[in-house]
Amino acid sequence: MKKIAVIGSINTDFCFRCDRLPNPSETISGKGFEIKFGGKGANEAVAIARQGGSVSLFGKIGDDTLSKENLKNLKKEKVDTKNIETSTAGAGVAGIMIDNKTNSIIVVPGANGEVDIEYVEKHKKEILEHDIFCMQLEIPLSTTEHLLSMLSKANKTIVFNPSPIIPLKEKILNQCSFVVVNEIEIKELPHFKSVEQIMKRYKGRLILTCGSDGVYFYSNKKVCHIPAITVDNVVDTTGAGDTFLGSFALKLAEGKSLEDAISHANLCAGLKIKKAGAQTGMPTKKEVENHLKQKSHS
Ligand code: RIB
Repeated sequence: MKKIAVIGSINTDFCFRCDRLPNPSETISGKGFEIKFGGKGANEAVAIARQGGSVSLFGKIGDDTLSKENLKNLKKEKVDTKNIETSTAGAGVAGIMIDNKTNSIIVVPGANGEVDIEYVEKHKKEILEHDIFCMQLEIPLSTTEHLLSMLSKANKTIVFNPSPIIPLKEKILNQCSFVVVNEIEIKELPHFKSVEQIMKRYKGRLILTCGSDGVYFYSNKKVCHIPAITVDNVVDTTGAGDTFLGSFALKLAEGKSLEDAISHANLCAGLKIKKAGAQTGMPTKKEVENHLKQKSHS
């Protein structure tokens, strides 16, 4: 099986539950508060590990209690953490407001902002031992650009989620094997005019995740759609995109077809939103199997 690495962020999520997200300048009463493990990079790695995949996470944590707890959790989830370094910056943190439809997130990078080109060069040998890479935009853009150029030259498979979205040069996207975006992110891609037009431009490399509307991708010269699974009680959408990315990369590593990998990732993202927490809500291999068993009996 191909070897997977995630290079990216490790955060602690401060989660505020509410009936609806507040408007600008508005104060509302919340319904609950929890501190959870998160960060798009760490989330993707946990999504893979929970489904029995082996995965190495490259990144940095802070020298504080939040970061130490985070590292302990990643080890418990069986993510290979040997290349994670400790920085003097504080933990990466996210403030997340969650209602029963969606979420809003503010991320303060902390130690993730210290994942620099020097770190990549120091770990170059270990990085290049892997075949498939999951990446996002919660580490400095200069590091991401450096990595994309290094990995694409080495003909590696790169699965990229440009989030938090910023205006990107097309060169960056052209270096990726797959670019996974949501409905908001797709509109920020260079040369975007419509979903159909941008999908044609990027061909099979662009995958659009649309929450309860499922996933769109381009295959056999047309836009294809896979509907989302029905979820009656949405508990927490945080980390659904990261679950998608990790689960997709895992199936690519297992040699599955593009459509099978997307279908599996779509199912796992659907299962995630039934439970709270970016990582704690992610499905295990057993849960995915049970869901498929139940479905085949119904
Ligand atoms: O994608 C969800 C993640 O975004 C959260 O876990 C939060 O830490 C931010 O990185």
